[in-house]
Amino acid sequence: MNITGEELLKKIIAHAKEYGFVFQSSEIYDGMSAVYDYGQNGVELKNNIRNYWWKSMVQFNDNIVGIDSAIFMHPTIWKASGHVDAFNDPLIDNKDSKKRYRADVLIEDYIQKIENKIAKEVEKAQARFGEAFNEKQFRETNPRVLENQVKIDEINKRFNNSFEKNDLDDIKLLIEELKIVCPISGTCNWTEVRQFNLMFSTQMGSVSNESNTIYLRPETAQGIFVNYLNVQKTGRMKIPFGIAQTGKAFRNEIVARQFIFRMREFEQMEMQYFVKPGDEMEWYKYWKETRMKWHLSMGIDAHKYRWHDHEKLAHYANAAADIEYQFPFGFKELEGIHSRTDFDLNAHIKHSGKKLQYFDPETNESYVPYVVETSIGLDRMFLALLCNSYKEETLEDGSTRVVLNIPPPLAPYKVAVLPLMKKDGLPEKAQEILCELKSDFMCMYEEKDAIGRRYRRNDAIGTPYCITVDHQTLSDNTVTIRYRDTMLQERINISELRAKLFEITRFNPIR
Ligand code: GAP
Repeated sequence: MNITGEELLKKIIAHAKEYGFVFQSSEIYDGMSAVYDYGQNGVELKNNIRNYWWKSMVQFNDNIVGIDSAIFMHPTIWKASGHVDAFNDPLIDNKDSKKRYRADVLIEDYIQKIENKIAKEVEKAQARFGEAFNEKQFRETNPRVLENQVKIDEINKRFNNSFEKNDLDDIKLLIEELKIVCPISGTCNWTEVRQFNLMFSTQMGSVSNESNTIYLRPETAQGIFVNYLNVQKTGRMKIPFGIAQTGKAFRNEIVARQFIFRMREFEQMEMQYFVKPGDEMEWYKYWKETRMKWHLSMGIDAHKYRWHDHEKLAHYANAAADIEYQFPFGFKELEGIHSRTDFDLNAHIKHSGKKLQYFDPETNESYVPYVVETSIGLDRMFLALLCNSYKEETLEDGSTRVVLNIPPPLAPYKVAVLPLMKKDGLPEKAQEILCELKSDFMCMYEEKDAIGRRYRRNDAIGTPYCITVDHQTLSDNTVTIRYRDTMLQERINISELRAKLFEITRFNPIR
């Protein structure tokens, strides 16, 4: 498809709505920005991604167990974790349009425009030199690329410096110096930059006062930290061990855009791996490799992934990296792997007064474990899969189809059972097959419309296999199985269907 990323994203959003994957929340009341609902196909895909993550982390690892902690937690937890004081975004308003922006995002967008210029230069050179083109060398020597890269580096350096020192005046100055204008009013008439806390708060109980203020959790990780000793003791876990959790998180994101990439209510899949102090770098490396293998095991092209190793580390981390995916709007964070030291456990020891140490029976010593965290957004993984699998194809006969080639184990429906006609006993035979399969597989049953249209509808929701029951089925107990990606068909005996579907819809465990 020769279209811009923006156009592609629009098509994907429209497709997600038309085929029951994702709807705008509260749509009939004109919607709520950055809040989305998953439809009948979306919820299946989402459940499948979550289950695959859970299997890979919990079922395949003897030393990782799961929990499901409450969304409401003691407010002091968020003081200890640093979220009350420092979980902020720098905001700026345009005085003319009255629109509010994240100052860092305005600068990020400005940098993106320079990056687009570089990408254009690279594209032009690629077209000129063809096969012989050496992109790395071109980027390192072309004067226009170098000049633009220097600009980017300088802006990043200045912004990071000011951000770290909480010098909000300088961030405003930078925006003005770069002549960044509001996309609505087109003016540079900005307010001061202010810090804005991203946590949603509410009141617990009937009396509304400050001491009853609680927060909707902005990450699931703290539920793991505060339960670490409960799990370690009751599960008799020995270090190294992990605790995994999936669940909702809430952030009052100001910049609402890019569909389900940045939401106010979203779901995380997080795992905290508790290790002996000093061993954390070995495990950090291990989890970086293991998580990347997990992503590639879903058949997504490797070139759509890249690493972003953090140079500037948060105060609690001694190493951190993001797995970035190439969304239609560029490479963006999909998962974070962080070596978080003993920061969180120590903070909870300090604030709760409880001993959260691990006693090592082999060495007879007690210590506060270090933690390596893997944290991925379920909705972002959903979006990555949707973007990766959306294809518009022109077929040999000139007709077109939209197909989602979602990996079969993750597809909302594994198989569609389709009687060729609505007569001659074909629906009854198809229903028999459906009853055989539906206890093990999500099956779609459809008898309305011509078979070709039913195939197309299933292509559009990513159903990998269609089984068609025809007149021959009644005489020899065979059906045709049609493969979504190749559209090839073969005849197969009904007695072999279950085993075949098990084989082709099963993920290979990653180790
Ligand atoms: N416990 C660590 C943590 O929460 P994070 O980088 O803030 O780290 C982890 O979030 C992951 O959660 C991100 O890589 C992203 O996939 C997802 N995520 C974060 N904010 C999100 C949002 N507003 N909407 C959707 N996903 C989000």
